[in-house]
Amino acid sequence: MTPTYHILGSTGLLGSAWVRFFQQHGLPFVAHTRHTWPLTQPQHWPTVTAADTLLHCAAYTRVDAAQSHPTTCFAVNTHPLPHLLALPSRLIHFSTDYVFHSPDPTQPLTESTPRAPLSQLGVYAQSKARAETHLEAAPHDRWCNVRLGWLLAPLSNPHPTFFHKLAQRTHSQKLLHIVDDQFGRPTFVTDLITWVWQHLLAPVHPYPLPPSLPPVHIPPPPHSTPAPLSGHFHAVPQGPLTTWFHLAQQFQSLLQSPPTPLPDSLRPLSHIPLYPVSTTHFAAPAPRPRAANLVSTRLLGHLPPWPDRLSALLA
Ligand SMILES: NC(=O)c1ccc[n+]([C@@H]2O[C@H](COP(=O)([O-])OP(=O)(O)OC[C@H]3O[C@@H](n4cnc5c(N)ncnc54)[C@H](OP(=O)(O)O)[C@@H]3O)[C@@H](O)[C@H]2O)c1
Repeated sequence: MTPTYHILGSTGLLGSAWVRFFQQHGLPFVAHTRHTWPLTQPQHWPTVTAADTLLHCAAYTRVDAAQSHPTTCFAVNTHPLPHLLALPSRLIHFSTDYVFHSPDPTQPLTESTPRAPLSQLGVYAQSKARAETHLEAAPHDRWCNVRLGWLLAPLSNPHPTFFHKLAQRTHSQKLLHIVDDQFGRPTFVTDLITWVWQHLLAPVHPYPLPPSLPPVHIPPPPHSTPAPLSGHFHAVPQGPLTTWFHLAQQFQSLLQSPPTPLPDSLRPLSHIPLYPVSTTHFAAPAPRPRAANLVSTRLLGHLPPWPDRLSALLA
């Protein structure tokens, strides 16, 4: 049987980007939906082998709705983990900075920083934190957990991210209130995929690699963890910590002198006034991480600097 990458959640933001990556490079993959890999029904999952890799991009990601739908959120994000870990395939799980709850932007959050107590977290964050405890209970050579922060995609991508939502709000509002007291770094979905491919997948790839693929980086042995390509990893872009407000300001500057003519849908965002507000302004049901200063101590290298990648949002 041919070793295959199985993309769980292939219709989502991250999963669909993996589909494009594998299509572009001609690698064997199966794109699963909630019908072909229903996370909450392990008895209906397809058969996989020890040579396969599961890219687990399926999740309940509606952070605020999760507060009033905890059963569904845990059923999707947490409870399938023991069943996934019982399969023979290697598991690449994606997690989030929400598992930390630091109020201090100067505090680096490394792969070995303890998660926040569950009592400080919202339902979505709890569901991901509890998923991580299932991973940690499994043999360490079986899984990788890639924690990431604010995921962004080009505005041509149909999956809504921060800037999609901002652009939409310009149709109904005269100014945009934007949170200025949550700190983090934006992660571009294509950069994340290249990083995971280079550092976690390609070094254990079982076939000859197509020449179209980015070069493989074989990481040196990490100094802080026992196994080289397993355990927790922070996918961290280079560049300073920022806030949503400052990120929006930088993007607006780019829109004011864009490298190519702007589509009509983005023109209002290029000149609408932006107004900084605190997190409390929106009274969102779920708590947000205030200071997601993710840092990696695993020597696998960083993603490209995020300020250099803002123009990629216009692709
Ligand atoms: N987006 C971010 O900013 C961000 C930040 C940090 C971490 N992450 C993590 O990255 C991963 C991918 O996130 P994303 O933004 O790509 O999520 P997304 O766009 O919301 O996609 C979620 C995927 O999961 C599928 N799914 C939901 N319930 C399912 C079920 N019961 N059975 C099978 N599939 C199900 C969805 O299928 P349908 O299309 O049928 O609903 C969809 O394909 C998640 O683990 C998330 O926690 C994301």
